[in-house]
Amino acid sequence: MRLIIHQEAESTQDLARELAIRGEPEGLAIMALNQTKGRGTTGHSWVSPPGKNLALSMILRPRLAPEEAPLLGLLASIGVAETIEAGIGRRAQLKWPNDVLVDGRKIAGILPEASLNNREISFVIIGIGLNVNSELSDFPPDLRDSVTSLRLSVGRDWDLEGTARDLLERMESLYGRVKREGCGFIPQLWATRWAHGDARLCRNGVTYTAEGIDADGALLIRSDSGEMHRLTSGPSELVWPDLRK
Ligand code: BTN
Repeated sequence: MRLIIHQEAESTQDLARELAIRGEPEGLAIMALNQTKGRGTTGHSWVSPPGKNLALSMILRPRLAPEEAPLLGLLASIGVAETIEAGIGRRAQLKWPNDVLVDGRKIAGILPEASLNNREISFVIIGIGLNVNSELSDFPPDLRDSVTSLRLSVGRDWDLEGTARDLLERMESLYGRVKREGCGFIPQLWATRWAHGDARLCRNGVTYTAEGIDADGALLIRSDSGEMHRLTSGPSELVWPDLRK
């Protein structure tokens, strides 16, 4: 994958999208050292203190059905988890659909955005925000209990560009596997890092058991009366058990 580093951008997601619309081939990643208007999932903003964290978006043009596009978000979370684990020597886990956790705290978030043309994927922009050198005081007070960074977990600073290149190398290898064999391996690989397998979770006041993820990345939950439900939307209405250490 190729990497372009911008000093400052409102959102790398938008820069990558503009390039993709103008025909940029897949495999380009745009990174910003200072991202001033980062976007998160479900309409949230993504806060990233200047020069400290990784904010990058990559352009992919997969030959997949539109329904399979969310699997690329899961794939990116696997790539981020593998990169973190190789760097800090600690287990990185996944929270459905795309969050990466260390010690039960969020260290990275992924924003996959697909653009379709006549029921075909034209391109997918995979946005990755990884907390690298941020301190707790860099986060808004209401998030400080539930987040972490590479620096916070091992007590030293990390080279941002080097971390980005390590991540892109992992993504290249995982995406290469998708191109060769399709998406079938993604849910299985994702499940090996799932933080909440068999966990009890709450949705609209009702308790369920987390059973697994489906072939398309949908979450499978079972009610106490044995009914299975498939959830394809983001995590906003789910309350998961606290895994913080
Ligand atoms: C989440 O809410 O968990 C997803 C966060 C995704 C943030 C990344 S940072 C790089 C890219 N540019 C953005 O504006 N958002 C994504």
